[in-house]
Amino acid sequence: MSMASPLWLLFLLTVTYSLIFSDTLAADSNDLKTYIVYMGDLPKSDLKSDLSVASVHNNMLQKVIGSRASTSLLRSYKRSFNGFVAKLTEDEKNQIAKMDGVVSIFPNQKNQLHTTRSWDFMGFPQDVKRAPLENDVIVGMLDTGVWPEADSFKDDGIGPPPSRWKGSCDSINFTCNNKLIGAKSYNSEATGDEELSARDTEGHGTHTASTVAGRLVNNASLLGLANGTSRGGVPSARIAVYKICFESGCSYADILAAFDDAIADGVDIINLSVGGSFPVGYMDDPIAIGAFHSMKHNILTCNSAGNSGPFPGSISNISPWSLSVAASSIDRKFQTQLVLGDNITYQGPSINTFDGAVRPIVYGGSVPNTKKGVTSDSSRYCQPDSLDPTLVKNKIVVCEDFSGPANALLSGASGAVIEGDLQNLDSAFSFPIATTYLNSKDGKAVLSYINSTSTPTASILKSVEPVDKTAPTVVSFSSRGPNQITADLLKPDVTAPGVDILAAWSQATTVTGEEGDTRVVPYNIISGTSMSCPHATGAAAYVKSFHPDWSPAAIKSALMTTAAQMSSTENPDAEFAYGSGHINPLKAKDPGLVYDAGESDFVSFLCGQGYNTTTLKLITSDGSICSAANNASVWDLNYPSFALSGKQSGSIVRTFNRTVTNVGAAESTYKADTITPSGLVVQVNPSSLAFEKVGEKQSFVVTVSATIGSKMLSGSLVWSDGVHNVSSPIVAFPS
Ligand SMILES: *[C@@H]1O[C@H](CO)[C@@H](O)[C@H](O)[C@H]1NC(C)=O
Ligand SMILES: *[C@@H]1O[C@H](CO)[C@@H](O)[C@H](O)[C@H]1NC(C)=O
Ligand SMILES: *[C@@H]1O[C@H](CO)[C@@H](O)[C@H](O)[C@H]1NC(C)=O
Ligand SMILES: *[C@@H]1O[C@H](CO)[C@@H](O)[C@H](O)[C@H]1NC(C)=O
Ligand SMILES: *[C@@H]1O[C@H](CO)[C@@H](O)[C@H](O)[C@H]1NC(C)=O
Ligand SMILES: *[C@@H]1O[C@H](CO)[C@@H](O)[C@H](O)[C@H]1NC(C)=O
Ligand SMILES: *[C@@H]1O[C@H](CO)[C@@H](O)[C@H](O)[C@H]1NC(C)=O
Ligand SMILES: *[C@@H]1O[C@H](CO)[C@@H](O)[C@H](O)[C@H]1NC(C)=O
Ligand SMILES: *[C@@H]1O[C@H](CO)[C@@H](O)[C@H](O)[C@H]1NC(C)=O
Ligand SMILES: *[C@@H]1O[C@H](CO)[C@@H](O)[C@H](O)[C@H]1NC(C)=O
Repeated sequence: MSMASPLWLLFLLTVTYSLIFSDTLAADSNDLKTYIVYMGDLPKSDLKSDLSVASVHNNMLQKVIGSRASTSLLRSYKRSFNGFVAKLTEDEKNQIAKMDGVVSIFPNQKNQLHTTRSWDFMGFPQDVKRAPLENDVIVGMLDTGVWPEADSFKDDGIGPPPSRWKGSCDSINFTCNNKLIGAKSYNSEATGDEELSARDTEGHGTHTASTVAGRLVNNASLLGLANGTSRGGVPSARIAVYKICFESGCSYADILAAFDDAIADGVDIINLSVGGSFPVGYMDDPIAIGAFHSMKHNILTCNSAGNSGPFPGSISNISPWSLSVAASSIDRKFQTQLVLGDNITYQGPSINTFDGAVRPIVYGGSVPNTKKGVTSDSSRYCQPDSLDPTLVKNKIVVCEDFSGPANALLSGASGAVIEGDLQNLDSAFSFPIATTYLNSKDGKAVLSYINSTSTPTASILKSVEPVDKTAPTVVSFSSRGPNQITADLLKPDVTAPGVDILAAWSQATTVTGEEGDTRVVPYNIISGTSMSCPHATGAAAYVKSFHPDWSPAAIKSALMTTAAQMSSTENPDAEFAYGSGHINPLKAKDPGLVYDAGESDFVSFLCGQGYNTTTLKLITSDGSICSAANNASVWDLNYPSFALSGKQSGSIVRTFNRTVTNVGAAESTYKADTITPSGLVVQVNPSSLAFEKVGEKQSFVVTVSATIGSKMLSGSLVWSDGVHNVSSPIVAFPS
């Protein structure tokens, strides 16, 4: 838990999901594709001293592709690690793969962006105790950039950046200040007409940056909705922007380029809300590899769990060296009422800022654009150009699809009702026209009202904000465990607010970004695991501001062992939905004990997972080896949770070795308490740990006997000294 530098930066990478394998479509082997050639750590300065790293890259390329090298080389990584990005054919790629020093080659891939009370809801009020060093924290945001003029990023009252800051404000049409201290933009495959500034034209990066570190802004709302004070988790921290996401997506080549700079700029926590849409092995996952690299630089990586839920095994960011965050609700929800002409009222989730004028209402299936040969088969879903403009103009249209309202607007409609049990009824979304979202039963009732009346009318009211007493619950879109690569490593790790979050927005777009939406707003309400990840980052930054010397694993442990346990009645997927539970930043600052781990622990874990020295190097890119001496089972990785899978109807007994480090009072005694359902028997030996000083380590063994049934068995281990509860879930489930 020691760290060379007392000074530190926080680094936040916030991107989102659904990998598009743009390269898999191109089959012709002569096609040029963009590859990332990863060469591991930078050469030691005494080697190759007279050759710059970039010229080494150029020489390697020249050997294979001759004079095309200079145009093919898109970027060299040379500040924090070694590698380059180049356009190559399949053949050329294979030749380079065999060259000395090449660790691995990945096709470049793009991620698409999906789409405040949240801090109070986590029990983290405005007036919490702040570390004197909070304004020394620099949060690096890898995202869509930010809107620099947003009130959340004003710098009044903030002094100059810490002197260790080595970054720069290197972007066009973008002015930095003492809050927003750095800006860079990366677009290795730019074709020329794209926006190259670090200015956010999409909204996502402005939203996430203000959630992590935005200043207090009173009277913030989306056109009156969610009105209140907007603030980030660490309002005094500095922000550095690394724009890696553009309209075409966020590419691995640019993510790595931003990593390369940000680490050299001096970072030591990375928050990476990027990941594939399906789980792959650690050595095939550039994000897991990037996160490993940052862990070696003492940087914690926070990964969003992904938005592919609620299907079992949908979680894709599963490496033990990063923090995987699910998304859950807060106690405020948005409901929108539809009042029919007969005064009968229905309501459903949506965020509607438009006022409720009374208008004629029609069913999309009854108004197909027959002149264009469209039938009700597509107009019922309000598919593009499927509605007859003369029959929907200024009316409310009932559509059986989520994308219906945007299409209805383009046909001239002024409102829409989405009908059907589609999905996402547990989070509210914005649409470019007045919209509400009804379940099938209510939707059918609206259709029979339309059928039964000669002049059916309706109005869609501005949304109301009822209290959600069931919160927090994990939202359906949040990706679920089990971990498909290492079943007995519980993922996600924690959950944080990610549903209908208000935060700052870009002035270069509108509420929805859809054609025809004219609402340009300073604050917007959006949902996603990339909204929950900034809350965990903010919390991690808060913990770090008090404990600058803690390792990434220690900070992660603090967030996990102090998380509030959640209800498996409200969340049937239990720990596969929420991991250790709902983060509590205030408690995480003082966890009592931490489960620490470093590179050698993760190397032993990988060796135990069947990696050998050759395949291990694909991840570590250093001299680490696998041998009989460092071959650890997953159960002995010093992780703050316990998971065990086995054949259904079978019984298993498993031991878990753990070591905790005292970070609470010097002299303290912790006693183990276990909570177990029937079918699960847990023994802890020793069951009492006495510490005499801070930093002291003590080991113990947990023996779990489980009778595996069809459902997960959820128990827990709590170490308590009377002041701190250090909690870990213990789960056993069928494989
Ligand atoms: C700077 O960005 C703003 C907002 O997108 C835009 O309106 C303006 O034209 C840009 N200025 C330059 C010089 O590009
Ligand atoms: C709050 O904001 C609204 C709209 O943005 C504005 O009309 C109103 O004057 C503001 N109120 C205060 C007290 O600042
Ligand atoms: C938000 O609330 C504040 C204080 O309650 C009030 O002064 C302000 O007018 C409200 N703003 C809007 C836009 O509703
Ligand atoms: C609906 O309610 C409004 C306002 O309460 C009332 O004026 C109107 O007569 C009612 N219409 C019907 C059909 O009941
Ligand atoms: C409404 O009428 C249409 C055709 O007149 C019919 O196909 C449909 O089933 C009716 N819908 C309801 C909900 O009564
Ligand atoms: C990482 O970033 C996400 C937002 O992308 C944030 O919610 C999370 O708290 C961050 N985690 C850490 C450990 O910095
Ligand atoms: C290491 O593992 C890989 C993949 O499992 C295998 O192809 C390779 O032969 C192994 N190398 C050694 C030295 O055992
Ligand atoms: C590590 O242990 C596993 C399981 O006992 C075994 O299959 C593997 O060969 C071992 N690896 C090394 C490098 O000893
Ligand atoms: C786990 O703990 C037991 C009991 O202390 C010890 O015998 C065993 O060697 C430990 N295993 C590992 C992998 O550390
Ligand atoms: C620790 O847990 C016990 C039992 O659930 C509870 O009574 C106590 O209040 C908790 N203490 C703290 C500091 O959270």
